[in-house]
Amino acid sequence: VIRSAVTGVGSYLPEQVVTNADLAEFVDTSDEWIIERTGIRQRHKARDDQPTSDLAVEAAKKALADAGRTAADVDMIIVATTTPDMTFPSTASIVQRKIGAPTCIAFDVQAVCSGFVYALSVADGFVARGLSKCALVIGAEEMTKLMDWSDRTTCVLFGDGAGAIVVEPREGQGTTADQGLLGFALRSDGTKTDLLYVDGGPSTTGSVGHLRMAGNQVFRHAVVNIAEAITACCEASGITVPEVDWFVPHQANQRIIKGVGDRLGLDEDKVISTVAMHANTSAASIPLALDAAIQDGRIKKGDLVLLEAMGGGLTWGACAFRL
Ligand code: ACO
Repeated sequence: VIRSAVTGVGSYLPEQVVTNADLAEFVDTSDEWIIERTGIRQRHKARDDQPTSDLAVEAAKKALADAGRTAADVDMIIVATTTPDMTFPSTASIVQRKIGAPTCIAFDVQAVCSGFVYALSVADGFVARGLSKCALVIGAEEMTKLMDWSDRTTCVLFGDGAGAIVVEPREGQGTTADQGLLGFALRSDGTKTDLLYVDGGPSTTGSVGHLRMAGNQVFRHAVVNIAEAITACCEASGITVPEVDWFVPHQANQRIIKGVGDRLGLDEDKVISTVAMHANTSAASIPLALDAAIQDGRIKKGDLVLLEAMGGGLTWGACAFRL
């Protein structure tokens, strides 16, 4: 088994910022309500003529540059997204064309907000079997394009963005023995598909549909599920929760992030939170938060990082790695 390592990280946010006050102009809500219940202050919004693949490409270019690689080196592209450009081809194939990567493996992973953690586990598996030497793992979403803008219970929660990482075999990267991806815990409970879903699709309505959510029921499952996955992931990785330097959670809601932290007794200073500025960007939220914390100097090479997420399915999971 070949161990894999994270060798580059990058992210991209579309230019337009939409504040809570902007939303309050057309939906019955307030800055105070949104901040108190979610911690969200603003979100970024892609242009109508700017598809998900464009955000993914910007993030991918930065991650490749960070890894000292070019598109010519890429042999696998996995895009975790729930808002693909088209039903097919995969957004990964479109990204491949746009960055000019050679013929390689390219496909999308759909596990909604947990998609990035799922995609990372897939890349780790390909690297482990010697099938990939330079994998681009991207989380890219335009959740604003799934919103029912008359539904205040959902439209205030989501935003657009993309994050990418490069995964390579650990050997030859100047890494130490304990670096690289350490372990995963991945879960899905298909009995809860009706708690969070989009009410459209090619084989049902023939339309894209809008996001629907039983928010407080999702909330109730989130903290318990995520805490269990973190515990299982730490066991699988041979580490303990107190050893972790940085927790990079999926950014859905500050109350969920805090609830998980309290349940596991996490030091608040070790928890990366970007939900105030990014809102919930689904599969993009973890690499966006990871990149923000690397850029501001908190997360450094050699740090032990734990990712966790939960989303529609319900799906959830966690992943530990040493950067
Ligand atoms: N502005 C003002 N009032 C609102 C808004 C809004 N944007 N949205 C809902 N309300 C009202 C409701 O209508 C309700 O009014 P009522 O009492 O008159 O009926 C009241 O606020 C309370 O509604 P609740 O749904 O009980 O509010 P709650 O405290 O549960 O907060 C929220 C709602 C923020 C959605 C919360 O349940 C939550 O965060 N859930 C987790 C869901 C989530 O983050 N999902 C993301 C995808 S899954 C994931 O990524 C983990």
